[in-house]
Amino acid sequence: MKNSNLKSYKIVTFGCQMNARDSEKLAGVLEEKGYTEATDEDTADIVIFNTCTVRENANQKLYGHIGQLKKSYLTNRNKIIGICGCMMQEKDEVEKIVEKYPQVKLIFGTHNIDEFGFLIEEAIGSNKKVIRVYDKSNNVEKTLPTKRVFGFKCGINIMFGCNNFCTYCIVPYVRGRERSRDVDSIVKEIKSSINDGVVEVMLLGQNVNSYKGIASQSYKFKNNYDVTFPELLNEVAKIDGLKRVRFMTSHPKDLSDDLIDVIKNNSNICRHIHLPVQSGSNSILKAMNRHYDRDSYLRVIDKIRSNIEDVGITTDIIVGFPGETENDFEDTLKLINQVSYDAVFTFEYSKRTGTKAAEMDNQVPEDVVKERFKKLLKVVEENSGKNVERYVGKVMDVLVESEDKISGKLTGRLSNNYLVHFNGSQNLIGKIINVKLVKGCKFYFEGEALL
Ligand code: 5AD
Ligand code: SF4
Repeated sequence: MKNSNLKSYKIVTFGCQMNARDSEKLAGVLEEKGYTEATDEDTADIVIFNTCTVRENANQKLYGHIGQLKKSYLTNRNKIIGICGCMMQEKDEVEKIVEKYPQVKLIFGTHNIDEFGFLIEEAIGSNKKVIRVYDKSNNVEKTLPTKRVFGFKCGINIMFGCNNFCTYCIVPYVRGRERSRDVDSIVKEIKSSINDGVVEVMLLGQNVNSYKGIASQSYKFKNNYDVTFPELLNEVAKIDGLKRVRFMTSHPKDLSDDLIDVIKNNSNICRHIHLPVQSGSNSILKAMNRHYDRDSYLRVIDKIRSNIEDVGITTDIIVGFPGETENDFEDTLKLINQVSYDAVFTFEYSKRTGTKAAEMDNQVPEDVVKERFKKLLKVVEENSGKNVERYVGKVMDVLVESEDKISGKLTGRLSNNYLVHFNGSQNLIGKIINVKLVKGCKFYFEGEALL
């Protein structure tokens, strides 16, 4: 039941698409209870921080936000401040928050987001702190209500957790082992989102290529108890009314020929593959436990490009992994030049306590990491825009996503994930229209809507 003194909420999301999706569920639960979204954290009666812990500075950001809320908490002592997400799976962090920030009333983890409805009631109804963090998932999947950030597109979890244990990465420890959802429940959720007006879904998992779900007899899979990601994607693409489907993230070691074929054969599967390489050096890839080398990665890229026309390929790079030499780093720069990515997301290596890499005794000094990071940005910048020219003059499908308040222009997204800016009226938002690409800039196009 709703506490009549508390009316509004704000959810602040850090990190990846998974967290963005979880935040939609949190908002859905609160809306169902009668709370409305506040404009900011200060005025909201309930503030929930959905945290990330992939990099160390994410933690600092969270403390900054909580600190800033002190004033509004002192004027509204009923204010509920809650924290959830990956960082809460780390015991030390929870202890630190309990000790340093008494104003935080609710703490829960990634495995008990399904209980949010009860937990928030408990936090509102008592004077005590509510802390509930499970070590692992109970594997029971509950459908939560959703409040979508965009009415026309949404994320759909197909699996949770990760089994890969890349040596730098905290995710397997905070999100647990891989669990794939059943095909039936994924399809049901997509159909219901289409009924609500969604035209594009993004299938979400830390490593979608290792999806292994089960399906009921109503589906005609080879083996109903072992449905693969390409099979799932093929099935999803056939759903009536689904105009576009994307997926994220692919691990290079598991990207199969079948997946490439399924994309090629279904025009509503978006021509975008995010394929994090992390490093261009074989010895670093080995130390990272990535299970591929530079050559096999390049072969996958070749296969994708030669089979899927107009595909956009993006990647993640980490610089300064323990033991990275100048030569290793040069190999990464060479790989970036060689592949000509459509976008590169760059990260300085961040030491995460609990991971294998944090124990390695050959950590790269901070100033060297910073220096390499600068060089990396320069090379990424020099390479950006390499692929845009060949699209200029073409007419392509664009999902119109937003209007820029200042310029009044609309922004849409191509199937290959590039953005396009063009003139048009606001009522086009959420529609897929034809746009002629008239000018290629580094990360986007200028276009003309053909209506
Ligand atoms: N340090 C820096 N970057 C990291 N990532 C994951 N863990 C770390 C870390 N410890 C990056 C990887 C991953 C992306 C989501 O975050 O590049 O692909
Ligand atoms: Fe982390 Fe590697 Fe799993 Fe991605 S695949 S979540 S980088 S452990």
